[in-house]
Amino acid sequence: MRGKAHGAEPRGLLEARNDRNREGRFGYMFKRSKPFEPPDELLRQLGEQMREPDGANLDSPIPAGFTFFGQFIDHDVTFDMTPLGEQKDDPEATKNFRSAQLDLDSVYLRGPDHDGHLYDPADPAKLKIGSSATHDDLPRDSDGTTALIGDERNDENLMITQVHLAVLKFHNATVDHLRAQNTAANEVFAEAQRLTRWHYQWVVVNDFLRRVIGQTMLDQLIQQQGNGRWKITTKHYQSGNPNRPMMPVEYAAAAFRFGHSMLRAGYRMNGNTSARLFEASPNDTNLNGFRALPAALVVDWSRFFEVPGQNPPQMARKIDALLPSPVFSLPESVVPPTSDPAARVGSLADRNLLRGKQVKLPSGQEVAKALGETPLSNQQLEVPDDPRWQGQAPLWYYLLKESDLVAGGDHLGPVGGRLVGEVILGLLERDKDSYLHNSNQNPPFTPDAPFTATPGQFTMVDFLTFAQVV
Ligand code: HEM
Repeated sequence: MRGKAHGAEPRGLLEARNDRNREGRFGYMFKRSKPFEPPDELLRQLGEQMREPDGANLDSPIPAGFTFFGQFIDHDVTFDMTPLGEQKDDPEATKNFRSAQLDLDSVYLRGPDHDGHLYDPADPAKLKIGSSATHDDLPRDSDGTTALIGDERNDENLMITQVHLAVLKFHNATVDHLRAQNTAANEVFAEAQRLTRWHYQWVVVNDFLRRVIGQTMLDQLIQQQGNGRWKITTKHYQSGNPNRPMMPVEYAAAAFRFGHSMLRAGYRMNGNTSARLFEASPNDTNLNGFRALPAALVVDWSRFFEVPGQNPPQMARKIDALLPSPVFSLPESVVPPTSDPAARVGSLADRNLLRGKQVKLPSGQEVAKALGETPLSNQQLEVPDDPRWQGQAPLWYYLLKESDLVAGGDHLGPVGGRLVGEVILGLLERDKDSYLHNSNQNPPFTPDAPFTATPGQFTMVDFLTFAQVV
């Protein structure tokens, strides 16, 4: 049984709570805010209230594929590739850590010279891809349960598996393109990696972020100036060491978990098959991960993104305070069994709420005030009437309900949108190798042919098209 998938907190997350001013791998955005620690019993009650009623069909305007692209982004930025020896010497990641970046280390690790097992032995500029008689898959060990990829969490469900596979293929298609352009052999890998990262980052900002925080918030946070340079305006995301940006606890333990609400109970995968998100054990009609991809569950991406000339895709759930029923009993591949079965928390809603308390998050209302927003009341938020809440709500719940109340669940509201937008753009800005910093060249990086048919525009569908998976 696989256990290290996703049910554990990332290295260093718990350490941050001991000192709100200290920054290691994680740190607090709101250092002066008070921890909100309501009784577990109340948190579990609220968690149960978050179960989506059967048959509810609450569509957002965001195509369903962005949910799993979001999970992929989460794993890219929360992944820590500090070598294991150094991790052991510094388990809480206060000193030794790789900073959070949107650099696809979950795909490349340290490149073909150091992590050759991820690369094609016959052509090490390319990433290794697995295949069966009928279709491609992630490369796997002999029994199929371990994917040979940079971050094992990217095999936790068969949708994120196939997002990861598409990124591998994008890189390999870029290698072919560069060779056709006669790029020097010793530059092909680094150049393909740079182009893959920059196109991916472009999609994260201009397609994903635009949809999940809304165009208005995005425009407040990033503008292109007359000289083509990008200007990022983040008021709240700062890091003590600008060259070593930290991951805010408020983001990892609450804000970016908004994607859990976008999950659906099941998906139409392709012409013939629908699949439930999770069941107790894997079969051909569920998306349980950590296994060879069955032919029946090979994704038709036009069911997940708006591919021109195809029927409209299925949509993600609204971003609201409800989660679909399969994540209330996560399979053992996601949350492993514990010696005391009663101690196993199999509900994702409960896990998020209890984790928020454990890492001493401030309440939603505290964060709203810190951002200068008028806080929503517990009555507006439909928090059960109990004095032990002290008129406050857990941050994760607050942000989801805010999205529902303020934006009809179409995208995050002012507090959630600012947290998510500032952190993603703040991380990109602090990464001197990101596409934002190519502005020193004239003209700055802009997607162009053959990556897109419309220069200056590049979407997830263009990414999948160049990867030759649609
Ligand atoms: C089937 C899909 C998913 C499953 C089963 C899943 C499950 C989990 C679990 C079990 C945790 C750890 C909870 C804890 O104990 O604290 C977690 C953490 C997290 N999830 Fe998800 N998740 C899924 C999709 C997503 C999506 C779509 C997003 C965002 C768009 C997301 C964002 C996060 C973040 C930011 C964390 C905290 C950092 C980390 O551990 O990666 N997840 N998820």
